[in-house]
This record gives sequence, structure tokens and C-alpha cells, in this order.
Amino acid sequence: MRFAEDPFAILARLDELRAADAPTHGGHVLSYVYDSGLAELDELAASAIRAVQPVNGLDPTTFTSVAVMEREVVAFARDLLNGDDDVVGSVTTGGTESCLLAVKTARDVWAAGAGSTGSPVSTGSTTRPRLLAPVTVHAAFQKAAHYFGLELDLVPVLADGRVDADVLIERMGADVALVVVSAPSYPHAALDPIAQVAAAAAERGIACHVDACIGGLVLPFWPDLPEWDFRVPGVTSISADFHKFGYAPKGVSVLLTRGRDRHRAQYFATTRWPGYPVVNPTILGSKSAGALAAAWAITRALGREGFAELAASCHRSTTALVELVETIPGLRVVGSPVGPLLAVATDATAPADQQVDPHHWADQARAHGWHLQLQPGLTQPDGTTLPRTTHLTITPVTESVLPELSAALVTAADEVRGVPGVSSEQVLASLPPGLAAAPLDAPLDAATAFGILQSIGLVSAGGGLPDRMAPFIALVEALPAPLTQRLLTELIARTFE
Ligand SMILES: Cc1ncc(COP(=O)(O)O)c(C=O)c1O
Repeated sequence: MRFAEDPFAILARLDELRAADAPTHGGHVLSYVYDSGLAELDELAASAIRAVQPVNGLDPTTFTSVAVMEREVVAFARDLLNGDDDVVGSVTTGGTESCLLAVKTARDVWAAGAGSTGSPVSTGSTTRPRLLAPVTVHAAFQKAAHYFGLELDLVPVLADGRVDADVLIERMGADVALVVVSAPSYPHAALDPIAQVAAAAAERGIACHVDACIGGLVLPFWPDLPEWDFRVPGVTSISADFHKFGYAPKGVSVLLTRGRDRHRAQYFATTRWPGYPVVNPTILGSKSAGALAAAWAITRALGREGFAELAASCHRSTTALVELVETIPGLRVVGSPVGPLLAVATDATAPADQQVDPHHWADQARAHGWHLQLQPGLTQPDGTTLPRTTHLTITPVTESVLPELSAALVTAADEVRGVPGVSSEQVLASLPPGLAAAPLDAPLDAATAFGILQSIGLVSAGGGLPDRMAPFIALVEALPAPLTQRLLTELIARTFE
């Protein structure tokens, strides 16, 4: 067949598009991408993807390679997370899918009246089940509660990002289908009090999920941690992403579950249609085996020792960066980060003219070619506030750029020291009159939402977000969440359009 467009031209166009992306290699982006720094590992992953390109992961009986690779990837994770023979699992397409499935499974087990044992014991209840977690739990659990009809009960955390176990335990009740704790939390790298929470949950027959999407494949090698994995008896499931610290391309995570009966509740099966019998362990039907094959190849290439070596590199870089930030006047590290990530806030004990706003700092670092991630401040359910922060995820490649990165972080802080952060008052005053008080009971239609985005200068003819993100995130902090969520939906939808 004659192609409508020359393949070389198509790939040249793709190269052009990719050149406009944030750099996925080289350590300049400190979130989203997890770079092992090993080009040969990326090559191996690419070859593995290529080898399974036409495979449909839907059916492991027709494409038996999928079953073998999945079994071995699950076994690798189970071994790292100290699971015994009673721990089984599934490969999913990412952290969000693992979290969604943990919630769906817990809801279904709860509805069957089975509690944390996974075996049905009564006829269940008609109450809406509750999902209990610290406010720092990943937003994927908000999505899960929304999708699967659970009441979301988010517990405030302390200023350092840690949750008080007793506060969480006090809220446990018969309507709780699942309590979620993180290892560690994404916003502040806090390791939740997993042993205490899981023990209390087990006593009450409540399932307990450990979200180790980000930490699951690196914390097994982190020194001096309390037990947080399947060694903790009340832990019923753990999620761990291979497309994070498993260094695989996007599209692969595992959800490990204690107990075969609980795991089976994750499945969806139907024979009640005139087509092929559908038996899906995860959310998708037809699916790629590419990222699974890449993760499988990487586990074989690196082995446990390779993972340990890369984790050690992350540990050295994280320690160095924590120490560095602590020496930068006007900034501070939030809490005591556990794992290769950290949040940086203003040191409010410094004199005002010495303080550094973390968002101005991130914008300035960006101007020097380093992409840090801005995190908005948050008013918690009890009215206490968590300060705005800037997030850094450290990967093995970081070590190779540590001197340049450190110098840029110091320079960026020097350049914005004493510049007050964008305040809510400032940002609200810059809005078109009446917007902040816009009625939220009437949903905004797409045209109105787009008009608002234009009036506040958030959409430009050229598309894309502004270079300086501090005012944008200040807007997120200042406006009521339902309004911001609607406006951001419009912003992203228009980005695709
Ligand atoms: C702790 C935690 N849970 C869940 C997720 C969601 O993972 P994904 O982006 O792969 O869907 C993340 C992502 O950063 C995470 O850090």
C-alpha cells in the first residue's frame, strides 16, 4: 500500500513534537519521569515492547507470554515486599488503576460482609461505604471514591505531613470499607504509621491498603525503616508502580493482595452476552503487553542487586539535596522525607526579607532549566492549613547532575529571596469582578469557562501554560475548589482541542 504520508516525514514530525516536550532524560525534570540513567536499560525495554507489539494482553490463554511475564513481575514485587504464598496479584496499567482496583475490591468485599478476611460472613449492608485516609493520600483515591460510590473521609495531617495514627484509628467504624496509608505519601514523602493503622484495622475487620505506588520498589532498599509491607499482618493489599522506581515506560504497576478470595473479588466476569466470555482481572479489556514486557525485562536485567544499587544512588542524592535545602536561607524541607522525594516550603522562622517562596523558587529554577513541581497550599477539613510547597522526585540519574542541580537551586533561591509569594488577595484582586463569588450551584458551560480562562489570561493564542506558574497555583489556592476544578478541566480540554 502507498502510505498517505512518507514514514520518514511522519517520524520527523514526531521528533519535532518530542523536541517541544520537557526532557525525559538527563535529570532536569524532577517529577513525572523516573530515569535509571542507564541507556542500555531503556534500549532493552524498547526491544521488549517491540517484541510484544501485536499481542493482546486481554487473553493470557491465547497469548501465554502475558501470563508468564505477569506471574514473574508479580513474583518479583511480592518478594521485595515480603509477601508469602498467600499474597497474589495483578499487573495494571499504572498507579491510578492499582489504586482504583484496591478500592473497588475493598468495596465489593465489604458489601459482601466479608471485612478484612476476604471470606463472606454475613449478608452485608446497604450503607454507603467509607474510604478512610490521611488528606495526603494520592488523589487517585478521591477518583476511586468518586467512581465507585464511596464516602471519602480524609483525616487532617500534622504540619510535617505525618498523620496521627490515633486520629485515623478513632474514625474507624463498621462502614469503613478500606483504610489507605502511604509508603510514602507523594506530597511530603511521609511514611504513614502503617503498623499501628493496619493492626487497628485488622482488629475491626477493616481492609488496609498500603499505597506504595511511588515507594514500593525503592523503600525495600532504604535504610532504617520500620516494617511497612506484607510483614505487617493487617496489610491486605499494596500497590507498587514499575513505571516509577521500576524504571519501565509508562503503563505498568502491580496490585498485590493478601488472600486469594480477596483477589478474586477484583475480577469482573460475565458470560451473559452472545460474545466471548469476558474475564478481566483489571479495568481494561484489550490491552497492550508492552509496558509489562518492558518491566519484566528490566527486572531480569537488574535483578534485586541492580534495584538495590539504583536505590542506593537515589538515597545518596536525596540525602545530599535534603542537606543542601537545609542550608539555603529562607527554605526548609517539610518533615523528614522517607524515600527519594521531598517537599520544600518557606522557612517561616526567617525574617521576611530572607524568606524564599517555594513557588517563585521553582519558577526561577525553571528559568535555569530545572523543572520542579509546584504544590498548592491546602486548607484541611479541620480548618488547619498546609503550606504551599515545591516537590522534587530524585531518580538514579540525579546523581550525575547533582553539582549543576545544587548550584541552580542555590542560585534560584538567591534570585527570589525576599520576594513575597503571590497571595490569595493579590490573585483575587486581579480577577474579573464577581468571578470569585461566581455561583457554584449552576454548572459552568464550556463557553463560559473558556471565557473566564481568557479573561484571566490563562489561555493564549499559542496554547500552553504560562512560564511562571506561581500566580497560577496561587489561583488554585484562592478560588473555591469546585470552580478551579471546572476551570482546569476546561483548560486541559482546550489543550487537547
Ligand atoms: C503514592 C502514589 N499513589 C498513586 C499514584 C498514581 O500513579 P499514576 O500516576 O501512575 O497513576 C502516584 C503517582 O505519583 C503516587 O505517587
